[in-house]
Amino acid sequence: MNILIMGPPGAGKGTQAEVIIGEFGIPHISTGDAFRLAIKQGTPVGIKAKEYIDQGLLVPDDVTVGIVRERLQQSDCEKGFLLDGFPRTLSQAEALDQLLTELGRKLDHVVNLKVDRDKLLARLTGRRICKSCGSTYHVLFNPPKQEGVCDKCGGELYQRSDDNEESVGTRLDEYITKTAPLLNFYEQQGLLREVDGELEIDTVSQEIVSLLRG
Ligand code: AP5
Ligand code: ZN
Repeated sequence: MNILIMGPPGAGKGTQAEVIIGEFGIPHISTGDAFRLAIKQGTPVGIKAKEYIDQGLLVPDDVTVGIVRERLQQSDCEKGFLLDGFPRTLSQAEALDQLLTELGRKLDHVVNLKVDRDKLLARLTGRRICKSCGSTYHVLFNPPKQEGVCDKCGGELYQRSDDNEESVGTRLDEYITKTAPLLNFYEQQGLLREVDGELEIDTVSQEIVSLLRG
């Protein structure tokens, strides 16, 4: 199954991605995670991406498309994939269509998590992530059993550098002007599946899984 998960920053894409890849046994391709890894490793892509990410701006399309192109060609994507955070502009969506055509593949579903803007700031500023395994928590909505410690692996939890109010405001603006228009693009292709992302985390997971199994 070839799936995209979309939604504004903080809609729950990463949280639900963990469930979907477990259910369907497909790899998770997150451009945000790929950039954060490149930043940690200090690669040229990481150095370039950091300037944009910390301000909440989108990284230029050529850099982003290159990463996805390389990843989709790897053999573990032959059984399917879950793309998270890509595409985010019309030009990225067109590049993805072209790439999939070259690979003889096509998208099966585009899942869109709908969450109102006023809920997203609280979700993002309260988010905490495990340094070791990448699991996501929230100080109020999904707290770990012990403060600052990952339930799954005991790793230390941290806050992303772009989860501050100023960067979040810019990220939401970027989403509205550049990414939201893609919903129409995928609706016209008959691929869009809308899900209420304001429900409890487990309820959202159940909705997505039943929709994808449907
Ligand atoms: P990226 O890492 O993709 O960030 P994002 O889209 O801003 O999305 P987030 O990861 O912040 O949110 P999410 O939807 O995954 O929510 P989560 O599940 O964590 O991108 C970061 C940056 O990289 C971009 O700003 C850009 O600069 C760059 N970039 C990446 N891709 C790019 C591209 N294609 N082109 C150009 N630039 C690109 O949940 C959030 C919080 O809410 C968590 O604490 C969670 O526990 C909680 N939560 C989740 N679901 C619920 C629920 N149902 N109820 C209550 N709380 C919930
Ligand atoms: Zn962990």
